[in-house]
Amino acid sequence: MAEAAVTMHMDKGLDHTIIGESTKSFIDGQNGVLEYLGIDIDDLARNSTFEEVVFLLWNDRLPSADELESLKSELRAEYELGSELLGMLRLVPADASPMHMLRTMVSAMGTMDADCDDQSLESERRKAIKVLAKTPAIIAAFSRLRKGEEPVAPRADLDIATNFLWMLNDEMPGAASARAIDVSLVLHADHGINASTFAAMVTIATQSDMYSALTSAIGTLRGPLHGGANERVMRMLQEIGDIDSVDAFVQESLASKRKIMGFGHRVYKALDPRAKYLRTFAKQIADETGNHELYEMSTRIQDIMEREVGSKGIYPNVDFYSATTYYSLGLEIDLFTPVFALSRNAGWAAHVLEQHQDNRLIRPRCQYTGPHGVAYTPMSDR
Ligand code: ACO
Repeated sequence: MAEAAVTMHMDKGLDHTIIGESTKSFIDGQNGVLEYLGIDIDDLARNSTFEEVVFLLWNDRLPSADELESLKSELRAEYELGSELLGMLRLVPADASPMHMLRTMVSAMGTMDADCDDQSLESERRKAIKVLAKTPAIIAAFSRLRKGEEPVAPRADLDIATNFLWMLNDEMPGAASARAIDVSLVLHADHGINASTFAAMVTIATQSDMYSALTSAIGTLRGPLHGGANERVMRMLQEIGDIDSVDAFVQESLASKRKIMGFGHRVYKALDPRAKYLRTFAKQIADETGNHELYEMSTRIQDIMEREVGSKGIYPNVDFYSATTYYSLGLEIDLFTPVFALSRNAGWAAHVLEQHQDNRLIRPRCQYTGPHGVAYTPMSDR
């Protein structure tokens, strides 16, 4: 069948397609650079906090002290889950994947918001605050409920990272642990039009709502080729077992074309700058805890991978050292990706708000490769 006369090109995976403009994050994949609103990620990781980065991504500038306090107050006012959400959480099977659980809970929040269909920026921002503020409590409460423990109420005097660890463990975290989570949240907050952000944008471009967009994004982040890789990294390290088994495992995996989780990236062909920072963290935690095995296994894998496939541009990505960092901080492995989602809520919402301001339905085409003119076969003849 003849198509209308428009120039089309096929770009499977959209590697070479720019789908629009954004002010949020800049990635230079060849040189391993990431900036949020022009500020280098190293600078933000060293000097900023997650709440400050949320403001930055949603307002395109750093906040004044008063503005930051005001955002924190808005977030803290939404920390509590409330009886409806908590009641719903108690119905989720204890053996459910925490990412399925989180996706379901964010979706459920849409059913409990009378303003769900109000698409004003103010209303959409309010929904983003709600989801971002409640996600730590959802993850922590689920983690406790499935172990037969009661959820711990959030504390309105704590920042998001400290509050999360408090609700998870029912004890105040040390400053170093809280800072490690906070920096990790900063590093994961945004990353251009990655797969989950794209999913959120496709959803909002139909003039759907913030809850629906974030639900799409969580479902997309879950996959092992995207955010789910951090859990797979940890399971891979457990499968390898010890440092003496690393060489054989990596060599055999490469020979059999099995991917090493936490390596490779669609955009970075140099070391992911977030991985560089997380590697430093993983080392610090290993030094503090005296448990060096995971860190040494990880650096050994990195050395072999750089020697064997570095020339193809395959280096550690954000998931590689975040796995070791989270594990050393005592997080259960299947909570790694939900923590990623907790942080990325900031970036997803930023892109949703941006899309609202200059919206166009996102509707690509595919090359039809099936037959034409096929006659319908009645059931009795099949
Ligand atoms: N281990 C070994 N080889 C790899 C890896 C890896 N982790 N990643 C890519 N390669 C190789 C491929 O085998 C392929 O080799 P070939 O050309 O000889 O066939 C080549 O590099 C290109 O790989 P593709 O998968 O086609 O590259 P793509 O851009 O589609 O993949 C992806 C990017 C999906 C991230 C890939 O590197 C991968 O699967 N990595 C492991 C999963 C992972 O860590 N995902 C997290 C990404 S970061 C994030 O989403 C937060």
